[in-house]
Amino acid sequence: MKGDSFEWAPDAPPPTLQDHSERKLALIRRYLRRYLEVLGGDRRRDRMRLTLIDGFAGGGLFTRHGKVVPGTPLIMMEEIERAARVLNDGRHKPLDIEASYVFVEKRRDTFEHLKQTLAIRGLANGLGPCGALIRGTFEAELDGIIERAKMQHRTGRSIFLLDQTGYNQASLHQVRRILTELPTSEVILTFAADWLLDYVADAPSFLKAVEPVGLTRNDVDRLLALKGAAGGRVLMQQVLLDLITERIGATFTTPFFVHGDDAHRAIWIIHLSAHPKARDVMLEQHWALGNGVLHQGPGSLRMLGHKTDLDQLAMFDFGFDPFAENKLHSSLFEEVPEALWEDGAADGLQLGTWLAGRVNRTAATKRQLGDVLWALAGEREVEILTAGGRPKRRGSRLRETDVIRTPRQRSAFSFAR
Ligand SMILES: C[S@@+](CC[C@H](N)C(=O)[O-])C[C@H]1O[C@@H](n2cnc3c(N)ncnc32)[C@H](O)[C@@H]1O
Repeated sequence: MKGDSFEWAPDAPPPTLQDHSERKLALIRRYLRRYLEVLGGDRRRDRMRLTLIDGFAGGGLFTRHGKVVPGTPLIMMEEIERAARVLNDGRHKPLDIEASYVFVEKRRDTFEHLKQTLAIRGLANGLGPCGALIRGTFEAELDGIIERAKMQHRTGRSIFLLDQTGYNQASLHQVRRILTELPTSEVILTFAADWLLDYVADAPSFLKAVEPVGLTRNDVDRLLALKGAAGGRVLMQQVLLDLITERIGATFTTPFFVHGDDAHRAIWIIHLSAHPKARDVMLEQHWALGNGVLHQGPGSLRMLGHKTDLDQLAMFDFGFDPFAENKLHSSLFEEVPEALWEDGAADGLQLGTWLAGRVNRTAATKRQLGDVLWALAGEREVEILTAGGRPKRRGSRLRETDVIRTPRQRSAFSFAR
């Protein structure tokens, strides 16, 4: 990809880390850190086994403002090392973290650079019982990697980082396979959507290029029909995102764009998992990082292609900053009663069930949605009940088993809003 530099040679200085890649690395590090804290937070647990897979590993190091900084394989190892230290602080029963790492890199020189980097840091023998450093392609190695993850943990607890350099090196069919065969796996996939959209064409070479993404001629025609229309780029992004998430079939996804000052096109970082908690943790990291990780649109329930109607989209860069948070709160305050009504909340709806159906559409964390529900309860737009049917104590933390109920009659207030 033009403007990116992901080429390493054993005796040359590492490539320069660009702004958007730095943001991507910060997000990945933060997510891993929080993931390990959540997983290791259970004080009764004394063992934690997992596999960290870097399927497009790179050479291990970058240069940033004259300093050498770690790439994703080292970030993974550093975060496990940190977790083993931090999570054991003050614990009576020590937590044994047993991690295996699988690093795959296709280019010979880049692979040699990574190998050398691990050796110099004394990490070459620290890849864990089921780990491996592999020179090859991720797609050809996937069978073996899945086996390794299963050997390391019964249900394959793992994080797959698929940081490809475009949009079609990691096939979505393979992503789906990972999530199906390893029920406790998660995938973080980078996807150069703007490059795909820039070159979209009804030509045999393009149709071949998008085969790994699972796009058919019909899908391509749908995208082409939007090209050049007012706001066409945002609509194309939304259609593409819908197609991708549908093809992968993951239950919980968090797709966001990372822009950089030196990249006029955005990279998507798509996080896929089978668990709502994982999605919420990823969202919290987006909020904590603030500006730089962007999604275009209001971030509320209408976000992410729910209705591909331009009027529905407030066209601003959603920057995970206080401005975005205020806007998100007011948009959700408007939209949630309608959405609950549509979803049948007049008869009472379990919060967990409702969130599972709606949550992929919003940039709001569970806490932020809870704040909106309490604000709506204050306006008598919704009732919040415990699982046993009793009114919930005002402002208390919401549980998935709580029940949300909208009035049988929509109030005049709701219709007027
Ligand atoms: C974006 S870079 C990864 C950077 C790395 N995640 C980091 O930030 O430290 C993508 C890497 O994938 C490698 N690559 C390309 N196609 C591949 C494939 N099919 N299988 C494995 N590696 C591949 C490239 O040579 C390149 O080093």
